[in-house]
Amino acid sequence: MKGVPGHLAVIMDGNGRWAAKRARPRWMGHARGAQTARELVAHCARLGVQHLTLYAFSSDNWKRPREEVGFLMDLFASHLDRQLAELRANGIRLSIVGRRDRLPPALVAKMEEAEARTAQCTRMHLRVAIDYSSKAALQEAFARVQAEGREWPADPLLPNVDLLLRTGGERRLSDFLLWECAYAELAFIDALFPDLTTADVDAVFADFARRDRRFGGLNSAPVPVGSA
Ligand code: IPE
Ligand code: IPE
Ligand code: MG
Repeated sequence: MKGVPGHLAVIMDGNGRWAAKRARPRWMGHARGAQTARELVAHCARLGVQHLTLYAFSSDNWKRPREEVGFLMDLFASHLDRQLAELRANGIRLSIVGRRDRLPPALVAKMEEAEARTAQCTRMHLRVAIDYSSKAALQEAFARVQAEGREWPADPLLPNVDLLLRTGGERRLSDFLLWECAYAELAFIDALFPDLTTADVDAVFADFARRDRRFGGLNSAPVPVGSA
């Protein structure tokens, strides 16, 4: 669909502040955020987004208190359980990106099952980044390429990002898709992730549709002859 990014990447930030504003524990913000993520996935599939990548847990998020990390790991596992049927019904392929060796083995087993059971789905490819660090992914790829004596590939590790959206008001990448965002349009909005609505997404897409992406070339609008 015109104006809809082929690859949307989302830094789902602001869950903790959403909870704090309501004098609630942080985990409640994460639980609400997971519901929002589910609605976001359905909305993007409806609009014709081909690739959607969601930042759910960064490798730096291990620095958080053990209880919060434990809650998030349990939340990922329960959402995988609950959403597998919905993903399959909507033709959504799920992949998890990031390191797996530090995750609870029961979670890894569920991730692998969900990946296998959605592998044939072609409507949209959803990637969820868990224990993800873009720097670490690049370092690992570099070490592999060097060990195998291959050329460094021209394409990034994941598809190029067309639009990167970060909720929660911060204007930084926090180690997400550094190479893939080489020519990404950036959208930073103040809404805390649990408050993100489909109307917010539509507004961000409308703004994206008006941008002139030049990729280092010239403006797509014709230049008047003889202009200096
Ligand atoms: C994003 O929300 C979710 C994760 C990083 C897991 P935060 O938990 O970072 O929420 P804030 O930024 O503290 O509000
Ligand atoms: C980025 O948010 C990671 C996720 C949304 C999963 P953070 O809240 O961890 O990022 P910083 O610490 O504000 O940069
Ligand atoms: Mg945050």
